Amino acid sequence: MEESTYCFRLGEDSSSLQHIYWGPSIASAQALEMSHASVPLRIPFESPKGISREEYAPWGEMRFTEPDLKVTFADGTRVVEWVFEAYGIDRSNSGQTLWLQFRDQAYPLTVTLYYRIYDGHDVIERWVALENKGGNGPVIIEQSLSADWRLPPRDRYRLTYLYGQHVKEMQIAEVVLSPGKMVLESRRGATSHQFNPWIALDPDASAKEESGEVWSAALAWSGSWKIVVETTSYGDVHCAGGVNDFDFHYHLDEGVRLELPAFVGLYSNQGFGGISREWHAYQREHVLPETPEAVRPVLYNSWEAVAFGVNERNQMELAEKAAGLGAEVFVVDDGWFNTRNHEHAGLGDWTVDPQKFPHGLNPLIARVNALGMRFGLWIEPEMVNPESDLYRAHPDWVYHFRQRSRTEWRNQLVLNLARADVREWVFTTLHRLLSEHHIEFVKWDMNRHFSEPGWPDEADRNPERIWLDHVRNLYWIIDELRSRHPQVAFESSAGGGGRVDLGILSRVEQVWTSDNTDALDRLRIQEGFSYAYAPRVMMCWVTDCPNFLTKRTVPLGYRFHVAMSGSLGIGGDLARWTPGELEEARGFIARYKQVRSTIQNGLLYRLRSPRKGAVAAVQYVARDGSEVVVFVWGHSQQFGETKVSLALKGLKGNAHYADTISGATYSGAYLTYHGLAVNLVGDFDSRMLHLVRITERKGVIG
Ligand code: DGJ
Repeated sequence: MEESTYCFRLGEDSSSLQHIYWGPSIASAQALEMSHASVPLRIPFESPKGISREEYAPWGEMRFTEPDLKVTFADGTRVVEWVFEAYGIDRSNSGQTLWLQFRDQAYPLTVTLYYRIYDGHDVIERWVALENKGGNGPVIIEQSLSADWRLPPRDRYRLTYLYGQHVKEMQIAEVVLSPGKMVLESRRGATSHQFNPWIALDPDASAKEESGEVWSAALAWSGSWKIVVETTSYGDVHCAGGVNDFDFHYHLDEGVRLELPAFVGLYSNQGFGGISREWHAYQREHVLPETPEAVRPVLYNSWEAVAFGVNERNQMELAEKAAGLGAEVFVVDDGWFNTRNHEHAGLGDWTVDPQKFPHGLNPLIARVNALGMRFGLWIEPEMVNPESDLYRAHPDWVYHFRQRSRTEWRNQLVLNLARADVREWVFTTLHRLLSEHHIEFVKWDMNRHFSEPGWPDEADRNPERIWLDHVRNLYWIIDELRSRHPQVAFESSAGGGGRVDLGILSRVEQVWTSDNTDALDRLRIQEGFSYAYAPRVMMCWVTDCPNFLTKRTVPLGYRFHVAMSGSLGIGGDLARWTPGELEEARGFIARYKQVRSTIQNGLLYRLRSPRKGAVAAVQYVARDGSEVVVFVWGHSQQFGETKVSLALKGLKGNAHYADTISGATYSGAYLTYHGLAVNLVGDFDSRMLHLVRITERKGVIG
């Protein structure tokens, strides 16, 4: 969009960076005027030097709010006194990066602050690099957040955030802030279902879906994280975020440079819909891995159909059926490897189970390919079952403390990926698996969080670095596999949507949104997801009824329409689907393929929230405006009301649009102001509408 301005300036004595402005576009003269005005806006008692609205605040001097940086030097000194040293701007084809380097006045530590912006976008990526220049021993980093976002002074901000649990991810919460701190975090080693590292703030709860000012921020980090939204007693609001400092220490040895993950910020004056569309566009254009495919393929996954009971025979049968429906990727989920007949054994032993696949996986892969589909495989490489050859050989490879129990969750333990030998083993094992099989899709799962995060061999050094190094090594392995096996697309799964963040999204094509595949529950999960993340990455399966979790039965059409509003997958036991159901499914998939580019790559408008009433609706507009797709779902008819009128968004008033099913035509103004009438009858009725823009003379375009 490019509708915002961000300004800061160097403090008088070059020892602080003062925030000036973040909001709607202003001219540079106005920015200068603000920068010459008294900064800070308030001079609180605690900050005689006016250091209350800093871009990044090391702990020291009279700073008492959440610090961004706290270190201990080798002689025990625990505050940083820094001074500005240099800056530069690096330009690339798509944007530019400003960096500002500060150095400690007495110790050999440099802190470089980065700000990257992209042409045509309002996001600002901010991160920090610390370097121990040497000569004074290690610097112990106790807290080093990636950025601190300062909000303009307003009466009261409302904070909107995403919380949840397994099978209930991405729920939307809001709270009006009072003085004090609101801390959102994960201490679990992974992003977590409980809180997602994404927030939005609007003044006086004034923003609506399509109007009003909203500031938003999201972390590019898949490990333990922390976002502190602090309202000082003077009313200033700032949000600091990055790697969680809980149980954390990082020894920055002499000559070592540490780059921390980005905390990305965004401003929009077009409400929550505005920030969502901007997050989606940014992810599509600058976060997600570059893939030659314009759209995500339709996928089949075996998990809900057969769970651990996969074998060559049932997978062949499912593959035939899936191909017949129009699936493009066939994924064998958990259960394909040695002794994996249940969740008690096998994790860590990544060799094909000869009982289930007597000829290995290759005959199945060849059949899947011959059916015109790509083959995908499930793995959970960071985990091990104690009941496995790997654990028997390397019991010291898991996180543990010597005199403490090793808590098992889902009968599994977490491999210490921070160890160089474990990292190497995981990489080599997966590299071999991908080299020996024609695998084009990997579902990378991660089903438990860290407990007893010890590393006894490292006990007298820096075992707390696991919180950082596990994730850095995870990223390294995926990056390395991607470069050696560029044909492989990745999906991030963690008991459903437990690892969804900008960090993992820069290395996977899509995410498994939730183990909850109940269509009605999914509407709420998918709505929250859409606040922060693009529909393209949101994998949604159509599964069987009654749903395994909720025992709810809803029509196939409703299940399809829910799953079609992101990246479509099928997860049902197709062997049990009737010919009629298979035929219906074939029709939905064909229809989806016609419109998926608009759904996956277009502009999303939330027309009706599933949190408010019996009818929910989402609209997508192709980026060139040529097509519109609308989904509307009604879960229960009430009071005999069948007609729903949907006022569409993002259309040109004087353009005309044709409904590709009914043939009816409407002006953009009619659809926007009068609204599109949809008839929903009974419970769990739904529609997908597809409109194409037409011109009077040239007919259908786009
Ligand atoms: C958790 C995932 O979310 C599921 O989809 C499935 O892959 C299971 N793990 C397999 O163990």
